This record gives sequence, structure tokens and C-alpha cells, in this order.
Amino acid sequence: FHVDWDLVTAEKAGFDHFMLKEIYEQPKAYRDTMMGRISDDGRSVELNEIGMTADEIRAIRKIHIVACGTAMHAGLVGKTVIESLARIPVETDVASEYRYRSPIITPDTLVIVVSQSGETADTLAALREAKRCGARVLAITNVVGSSVSREADDVIITQAGPEIAVASTKAYTSQLIAFYLLGLFFAETLGTKDSEFIAEVVEQMHKLPEQVESILEKATVLKQVANSLSKHNNLFFIGRGVDFAVAQEGSLKLKEISYIHSEAYAAGELKHGTLALIEEGIPVISLITQEDLYEKTLSNIKEVKARGAHVLGVVNEGFEEEVAKSVDELFAIPKTLPLLAPALSVVPLQLIAYYASLARGNDVDKPRNLAKSVTVE
Ligand code: G6P
Repeated sequence: FHVDWDLVTAEKAGFDHFMLKEIYEQPKAYRDTMMGRISDDGRSVELNEIGMTADEIRAIRKIHIVACGTAMHAGLVGKTVIESLARIPVETDVASEYRYRSPIITPDTLVIVVSQSGETADTLAALREAKRCGARVLAITNVVGSSVSREADDVIITQAGPEIAVASTKAYTSQLIAFYLLGLFFAETLGTKDSEFIAEVVEQMHKLPEQVESILEKATVLKQVANSLSKHNNLFFIGRGVDFAVAQEGSLKLKEISYIHSEAYAAGELKHGTLALIEEGIPVISLITQEDLYEKTLSNIKEVKARGAHVLGVVNEGFEEEVAKSVDELFAIPKTLPLLAPALSVVPLQLIAYYASLARGNDVDKPRNLAKSVTVE
């Protein structure tokens, strides 16, 4: 009796690729990242790992979020989360730019660095520059004991577990959870949101893992979408507000592993240039999860449809009928608060990237020219 066995196959736990396994691990990553950080009554966030006093939090005048790649995209969502919950002005920047643009860092600036590995050279250099200028540095990282975690003043560890695939999935969504927790924690300390509101957000956050599971159950639909997208060489992602931030991550994911050229555009900005590229049959993936921006986004969809685009709309459950007449295909995500929508809407985009890469016969887990962790500047 002989059993073929190797370590890598065993580590994939029955999945064809690490990326797919990691996409499916997201419900657990959400639960683990929230665990121990919410009070028993579910009404407040407890980030005991943050050493800042209430007075120190009140003294923060601005926040810089600095990171690379997917972690930077989590920072784009983080900007909206912190600004809307805690009303502190936030700038998000790529680490390789931040460091060399002589950023205005003062002692009342909080610099948040985001890094799955905690070893990215550009992010680490930005952290050191921030500290040199006297800022307090908070790190959101997935690796305990990493360089970033050792050098930052405060550290929030995302509990995503090891991420092997080069294209980041569960680390990104765990970073979103970390930003939600941090935004709520600041809001509570600063009194910018009342306890009823905070309790409501926390309640909705607890529903996210199951809601992700329900999206994963519809993976075959996304596989079909991806198979037809894989025949194209160009496509666009559009959205407004946090939907635009998610569009950028969806576009990066697709580029990284399928090698299909794609661009993410703020939906309202299309008419200022990109519309010239829309031609018959070009696929456009449109995120439409922000109810206050629905009308505006739908009118942008009309603009691309009028020029022959084939539009897939990612929309909230309950709004399918309203949106159906404006798009060619629909994918519905479960209903949640607008601010939490990225934690759901990115999942179909991850699966589309995965299946498009597969359809093109690429090495999903190890895309050409890319490394999991970039330790050179
Ligand atoms: C590399 C990876 C990306 C990742 C980026 C930042 O470029 O290929 O997937 O987002 O580094 O990595 P970090 O470990 O700092 O989050």
C-alpha cells in the first residue's frame, strides 16, 4: 500500500492552490482578528495592545497611513473608516513615495504602517523616517516579531495566519478588520460616535464571517464570469468612495495573477479621460455598494454602457432589481453597513482574479516577476 504524499500538498489542505485556501480561510481570519478585542457585552472595542492614553489619542491632529501594494489598498479603506468614525484627517500613501517626498510629520502625527510580512523594505524605511521626525508609529502586521512589529510603538497583529500565495487575500481583509476596530476605538475615546452606533457596527461586524461564507458558496457563478473575462486583454473596475478603494484592490489582484491589463477608476472621473478607452464589448466591473452614491454610480454605468461596455455590477442584496436594468450581469453581496461593505465586496473580486488566472493557465500562487515579500527598496 502506497500513499503519495508531499508537504506542500498537505499544506494546501485539499485546495488546488494556496490562494484559494486563503480566500476560504477569510471567515476564520475575521473571527480571529476580532477575537479578544470586543467587550463581552459587544458594545465596545478593547485594543489593549495600544499603549496610547486617551489624552494622547486626543492630541492626534492627523494620521498618515503608509504601506505598499495590497496593504496600501487596505489603507485606502482605512482612511475612509478613520475619517468617518473618528473625524481625524487621514492621508494614505505608498511607502516608496512617502519617504522621499519630505512629508510633513510632526509630533502630533500618528503614522500607521500596514504590512502583512512586516519586512517590506519601503514600509520599514517609511516607519524609520516617521520615528526620526518624532511621530508615534502604529503597525498593523500579520507577523509577530517582524521588523515592523519590533520597531513600531504600538502593534495590532492581524490574526490571518500564514499567507503563502503571493497575491494577498486574507491578510488584506484582516487589515480591514483591524482598521474597523481601530476606527471604533478612536471614535469611542474621542466621543465622535455614541455607544448605540458603536454597538450596531460591532453587531454587523460579527455577521461578516457568515456573510463571506455565503459569497464563497456562489463561487461557481464567479468562475463563469472569470472564464469569459479571461479572453479579454483589457478591462476596467469602477466605483465611488470606498467602492473605489476596493476597485483598486480588485484590479491589482487581477493584474497580479491573470496578467490581464486592468485599471481602476473613480467612477465620476471616467468622463475626464478613460471613457475614450471604452469600446464595444470591453468588460467593466462596477462596485455599487454605497447607497448614498447609487444614483451617481448608475449614471456612470450608463456612460460606459452607451459606448458598448459589458458591465458586471457588484451590488447589495435587496437592490438587484433596481440595478438589474442598468447592467449586463449582477453579483449580490449580503446587506451590511456601507462602511463594512469592502470586507464583503472584495471577496468576489478575489475569486474572479483566481479563476481568470486559472483559465489562462498561469501559476496562480507564484505569478511571474513578483515576490511575496520585497526586502529591497
Ligand atoms: C509584495 C507582494 C504584495 C504585497 C506587498 C506588500 O509586493 O507581492 O502582495 O501587498 O509586497 O507586502 P507587505 O508584506 O508589506 O504587506
